[in-house]
Amino acid sequence: MKKSLFAFVAVAFVALASTGMSGQAFAAGNTIDHIEAPEQGWKHTGITGTFDRAAAQRGLQVYREVCASCHSLRHVAFRTLTGIGFTEREIKAIAAEYTVMADPNEEGDVLERNAQPFDYFPLVYANKQAAAASNNGAVPPDLSLMTKKRVGGENYVYSLLTHYREPTAEDLAILEKKNISLGDTSYFNPIISGNQIAMAPPLIEDLVEYAAGQPKATLKQMAYDVSVFLTWTAEPKLEDRKKLGFNVMIYLFIFCGIMFFAYRRIAKRILGH
Ligand code: HEC
Repeated sequence: MKKSLFAFVAVAFVALASTGMSGQAFAAGNTIDHIEAPEQGWKHTGITGTFDRAAAQRGLQVYREVCASCHSLRHVAFRTLTGIGFTEREIKAIAAEYTVMADPNEEGDVLERNAQPFDYFPLVYANKQAAAASNNGAVPPDLSLMTKKRVGGENYVYSLLTHYREPTAEDLAILEKKNISLGDTSYFNPIISGNQIAMAPPLIEDLVEYAAGQPKATLKQMAYDVSVFLTWTAEPKLEDRKKLGFNVMIYLFIFCGIMFFAYRRIAKRILGH
């Protein structure tokens, strides 16, 4: 009896713990460095993880002041920023700094208007051709779902932003073997598949100024913050999903317990042991 109860608890515990696994993976193929998680880890991973709201808010600042000159965030509506702790007033003020196209007026003209909380972040370029023309032929991808699109998720984005460096002779030899030569407009990055990227290193120390009381805007801190923010944009319902999953596991745990004791009673009555 004691042994089987122990086995039951062990199985239930493993099942519970496995729901919290973040499934960290490494980029496949020909990268040289490994994708790594930041030293301090993420607050949103694990069974009951929640977004670090202060980091996500700083991440929005990094996005707006740095990334937004090239990357759109087309799937994010301003009103949803309540999810990382902004008040409705703050959201109204953020939205008002953007302009979007209004509905056509009676003459059929489309004029601009200030964005409202129900609007989405406006596109940066009118079309792909315009985006490519401004970026030496490369199109900066939309960042809304980026942490879902790349193997490694937020660890990939974090590593990509923090691993830019001059290629060593060894790196160049590896690239040469693969017949890749770095051009004037491509940069070495050991994280991206192929090891060259058309995006110049976007972050340098103190590029943004964080509000008083916030951490110093080091390269790693900004990369961390924008990665938290982009994890949220890709999965704004992450906290709800975890809460539900956790409650379901608790329910199943209790249910299993009841079934186990019911089984023992019946077995005792029928089989006599
Ligand atoms: C000056 C323009 C510019 C800025 C600013 C910029 N990027 Fe980029 N980014 C690009 C371009 C162009 C590409 C496409 C690179 C390629 O295909 O080689 C890109 C690609 C990316 C990718 C995808 C890499 C991949 O795996 O394909 C991510 C992620 C990214 N940028 C994140 C950011 C973040 C986060 C910021 C702000 C901190 C930022 N970028 C700022 C131009 C920019």
